[in-house]
Amino acid sequence: MTDLSTASPTEVIAHVLKTYGNDAAISFSGAEDVLLIEYAAQSGLPFRVFSLDTGRLHAETYRFFQAVEERYRLRIEYTFPDAAAVQKLVRAKGLFSFYQDGHKECCDIRKVDPLRRQLSGLKAWITGQRRDQSPTRGAVPVSQVDPVFKGIGGGELMKFNPLANTSSNDVWFAIRALNVPFNPLHERGFVSLGCEPCTKPILPSQHEREGRWWWEEATKKECGLHQGNLG
Ligand code: ADX
Ligand code: SF4
Repeated sequence: MTDLSTASPTEVIAHVLKTYGNDAAISFSGAEDVLLIEYAAQSGLPFRVFSLDTGRLHAETYRFFQAVEERYRLRIEYTFPDAAAVQKLVRAKGLFSFYQDGHKECCDIRKVDPLRRQLSGLKAWITGQRRDQSPTRGAVPVSQVDPVFKGIGGGELMKFNPLANTSSNDVWFAIRALNVPFNPLHERGFVSLGCEPCTKPILPSQHEREGRWWWEEATKKECGLHQGNLG
C-alpha cells in the first residue's frame, strides 16, 4: 500500500478518490473540515460528501451546508436518525437527557447508527480528524483500516484522515488563503463545532475541545464516530 503517512492533505485526498472512486466519501461536519471539500474539488476528480444530520445542529450550520452545496455544486448526502428510536428516547427522557445521562445514548441514536448505515455502502471514508484536536486524537494516523466500522457487504473499510498531521493554524491559514467559505459560528468564538446543545464558544487559551460536552471528562469526549481512538 502507498505510504501516506507524510503525504500532504491534497495528495491523500487525490489518492483516495483515484483508488476508491464512488466507493469513498468525505464525512463533513459543517466546521473547518470544509477544507477537505475544497481540496477534493481542486483534484478535479468526482467526489461524494455525506453529513450526519442529528436534528440538533445550529441553524447556522444548516445554512452553511446549503452554501457549501451551492459553492461546490454538489448535493450533500444527509443521513437522519431512526425516527422511532429518537421518539422513544425523547418521550422517555426529554430533549436534554445528555446533560444528566451523558452524551453516549443520544449520540448513538442520532450519529453513530446513521454513520454505520452510511459506511455500510462505502469502502473508504475521509474525515477531518487532526491530532491536535483532542487528547483522544494524539495518535490519529493518516490512513488506517477502520477499527470499528465495516464497509460494503461487511467488508474492510478504510478510514483516511488527511489533516491528521496538520494543526488548527494550518487549516485556518489555508481556509483564508484559498477563500474557502466557513461556518459563521467560527466568528463568534465557536472553535470545535457539533450539535447546538452540546457545543459552546470558548475563551482565549481554552482548548477547542472544552467547548464540546463540557460537563464530561476530557478523556471521554468521543461521541462514537471515532470511538476507535479510545483504544
Ligand atoms: S466528533 O466525533 O467529536 O463529533 P468532530 O466534530 O471532532 O467529531 O469532527 C471530526 C470529524 O468527524 C469531522 O471532520 C468529520 O469528518 C466527522 N464528523 C463529525 N461530525 C460529523 C457529522 N455530523 N457529519 C459527518 N461527519 C462528521
Ligand atoms: Fe445528542 Fe449532543 Fe450527541 Fe448531538 S452531540 S447527538 S445532541 S448528545
